[in-house]
Amino acid sequence: MINIGNIKLEDNILLAPMSGVSDLPFRRLVKNFGASLVTSEMIASRAMILQTRESILKGKKDVNHYPMSVQIAGCDPEIMAEAAKLNQDLGADIIDINFGCPVKKVVNGFAGSALMKDENLATKIMQYVVNAVKIPVTVKMRLGWNYENLNAKSLAIKAEDAGVKMITIHGRTRCQMYNGQANWQEIAKIKAAVNIPVIANGDIKNAADAKLAMSQSNADGVMIGRACYGKPWLIKQISCEINNKENFITPNISQQKDIVLSHLQQMIDHYSQKIAIPLARKHIGWYSNGLKNSAQYRAKINILNDLNEINDTINHFYESQSDFL
Ligand SMILES: Cc1cc2nc3c(=O)[nH]c(=O)nc-3n(C[C@H](O)[C@H](O)[C@H](O)COP(=O)(O)O)c2cc1C
Repeated sequence: MINIGNIKLEDNILLAPMSGVSDLPFRRLVKNFGASLVTSEMIASRAMILQTRESILKGKKDVNHYPMSVQIAGCDPEIMAEAAKLNQDLGADIIDINFGCPVKKVVNGFAGSALMKDENLATKIMQYVVNAVKIPVTVKMRLGWNYENLNAKSLAIKAEDAGVKMITIHGRTRCQMYNGQANWQEIAKIKAAVNIPVIANGDIKNAADAKLAMSQSNADGVMIGRACYGKPWLIKQISCEINNKENFITPNISQQKDIVLSHLQQMIDHYSQKIAIPLARKHIGWYSNGLKNSAQYRAKINILNDLNEINDTINHFYESQSDFL
């Protein structure tokens, strides 16, 4: 159980924000399996205050799902505050601030993990955002810019002072990008320095990793990103395994087929068919990993544009698996 301000989470395995992945259709699937908290893709605060179609779509909430966090990124405290307020008004239950994004385009605009190099500005952003909204504010960051400057602990203390209610740490530095292995032990120093929940993130793929990450970091929970590709059930599965809850049964091939078809349809409803089909290809591919003839299937899916043909190809692929029930 984790308390994010006045919001109580039923468990401690969270879905990571992932641009291009954790959109409303994916978040809804993950939530429907029973995850306690999902977070939107990062929304650029400047685009948010212009209320671009894209930023509104990114932060859109499924009214049946509570709580849902919306992540914002940017380097201007006033614009960040306004973007946070807008998302609160549009239904977000939690605002997450991105201090972790390592991508050049974001860092060059002094947002994302670049803010870890400027603790004063990062603190001002947190203060402005916390003061602008009534809902809890959380922060996601890395260990620091590089291994010579591991300042997540110092920034976490400032976050708590500013009124931030939970901190997620990706156990890498900005300069590591996604290389090497996430350092869960280093997260323990941050956990020991603050009284708000700390979540460990990076390279957690299964229940054994989640257990090890929690024991090494002493964190209150873990956040999982890439391992959820093609497995919207993974968050719930790991939660059941490590919290000794009910016995989780992985969806069988026939159920997986229904999940893929429903995911595709939800993407079409969310984006329009023309935009959804190219975006859905990577998800359809991820779902097929490890299944028989998946390389040929992916190659075919990647060139199809007709929805009926895509649906037929999905049906045929799953029905031809030897363990299709
Ligand atoms: C495709 C992709 C998109 C991501 N987008 C975001 C994002 O929008 N905001 C954010 O804070 N982190 C983002 N991340 C980082 C993840 O949230 C997470 O910190 C990182 O992938 C490490 O966790 P993992 O090993 O479980 O994937 C992204 C990662 C990936 C792979």
